[in-house]
Amino acid sequence: MRDVHSFARPDEAVVRHIALNLEVDFERRVLRGIAEVRFEKTPEARRLVLDTHGLTIDRINIDGGGEATFALGDETPFLGRALTIDVDEDTEVVSIHYETSPDAAAVQWLAPAQTAGGKHPFLFTQSQAILARTWVPCQDSPGIRMTYSATVRVPKELMAVMSAENPVEANDSGVYHFHMPQPIPSYLLALSVGDLAFRRFSDNSGVYAEKPMIEASAYELADTPKMIEAAEKLYGPYRWGEYDVLVLPPSFPFGGMENPRLTFATPTILAGDRSLVSLVAHELAHSWSGNLVTNATWNDFWLNEGFTVYFERRIMEAIAGRDYSEMLALLGYQDLVATVAELPPRDTHLVGDLEGRDPDDAATKLPYEKGYSFLRLAEETVGREPWDAFLREYFDQHAFQSMTTRGFLDVLNARFPQLDATINIDQWVNGPGIPPNCPKIHSDAFVKVEEQVRAFESGTPASKLATKQWSTHEWIHFLRHLPKTLTREQMSGLDATFHFTDSGNSEILHEWLLQAIDHQYEAAYPALERFLLRQGRRKFLKPLYQKLAETPEGLARARAIYAKARPMYHAVSYRTIDQILKWSV
Ligand code: BES
Ligand code: ZN
Repeated sequence: MRDVHSFARPDEAVVRHIALNLEVDFERRVLRGIAEVRFEKTPEARRLVLDTHGLTIDRINIDGGGEATFALGDETPFLGRALTIDVDEDTEVVSIHYETSPDAAAVQWLAPAQTAGGKHPFLFTQSQAILARTWVPCQDSPGIRMTYSATVRVPKELMAVMSAENPVEANDSGVYHFHMPQPIPSYLLALSVGDLAFRRFSDNSGVYAEKPMIEASAYELADTPKMIEAAEKLYGPYRWGEYDVLVLPPSFPFGGMENPRLTFATPTILAGDRSLVSLVAHELAHSWSGNLVTNATWNDFWLNEGFTVYFERRIMEAIAGRDYSEMLALLGYQDLVATVAELPPRDTHLVGDLEGRDPDDAATKLPYEKGYSFLRLAEETVGREPWDAFLREYFDQHAFQSMTTRGFLDVLNARFPQLDATINIDQWVNGPGIPPNCPKIHSDAFVKVEEQVRAFESGTPASKLATKQWSTHEWIHFLRHLPKTLTREQMSGLDATFHFTDSGNSEILHEWLLQAIDHQYEAAYPALERFLLRQGRRKFLKPLYQKLAETPEGLARARAIYAKARPMYHAVSYRTIDQILKWSV
């Protein structure tokens, strides 16, 4: 299977292990050192081809001995440059002496002012989808797996952690050793460096965060062991030993990233009431769907994310009940409808069509939510028990392997030969939009929320609405369904009663700020600016900047805010916002 996003030629020579020896230089904002790459090859192969992007290669040694000749190919947009290394018949290892660029897209270097502690710099990487090559020379394709080890040298006050076996406290040498014994694809390579603390939850789980954030993080994520237990009960043993979460500074561009053994997470999930922790269920679920059985190419991304959303909601159902998980499912379905309305039809097939495109641009909600709906339909059609038995076996039999969409469908059809005739799989996988047999999701809780929206619309003052005990999800549903015709007076009425503008819940605030832009509710503009300056999660930034950009006046405000905010954002986020605001640097 050819991966159009990698220069590697694994049929000739394929990487099996990388031993990194890196120094983290905060002054120059570079990683510098050696990647010792161990590979397997066919007897005839005389070259090893790796992916690089913005790396400076000093020299390459063969098997610890003489220098190898090598060539860097032409720079290709978002793919970088092929590194072709000449090897001998019996070469097994090459040692690449290299340095990253200060603007390596995977790496964000934070000044002390961008951290909670405010005293020390901070670093984190984000490798998915094809950014590992901006900090490690590797075969950067999800269809290729390797083990890795690393020695990382950092400033003495700081601690380093990776997607591997990790230290639990800083040492005074500033040198850390890592080992990842299970084979992983390159997009799961991850590193973070900062003034970190660790709090243990159980034998095999805990949380890392900057010291000032550790208490709040430990409180919020305390249900992690329950989630692990629920997940194992569903789809088999957790195979990675430890499961920890690292709560990052607010510029982290995603909600979460499933780096094995160490999920990276945004601090915007710290709502204070544990209401946003389904994100941890999601990243944990990737320990099966994605990290164990991995999408073979980025066109098969729905195999990672659709399965994971399905699994996430099953975990939440197990620990919080069906009413709860149905609220999540219904909010997800709303996202699906909005996404389908926005995208060109070809981008609404489950299988992607990413040749010549940056896979990051295609990371929409579609593979998540259409994938979820498809798997839920399959479950409802064959019955939960046979379905769960199937999935458990699927993860078991394909553990530590990659999977194509075709491969999955073959396994599915072999197990449930009648399924296709009943649900028409092809319309889901290779057809546009939302198929007519998409499962209908019902939530009693949300029906009650809609009643309150209607009451408000027909004149009941905000203070008289029946909103007692509403969860975050009910509030989101409420905010999403406010009438388009809302006046500014009604907006202030809501705000005076429910204090949305001052909400410490990032999801609620986000929905409210979208409404504020729509209804030109100026009282919320300072809060909007603060939100855009204070965190860099693309899922929040993108819709807000997009909405602002809809009017000339809003666009001007967006650009003024962005001029200040952009230096705080990770490349993943600012590349997206640059496009929205037509920003050029
Ligand atoms: N693996 C993804 C994040 C990702 C996707 C990074 C594509 C780069 C390219 C992660 O598991 C994820 O889906 N995160 C979501 C949260 C989740 C609860 C839907 C996010 O960051 O919003
Ligand atoms: Zn995910």
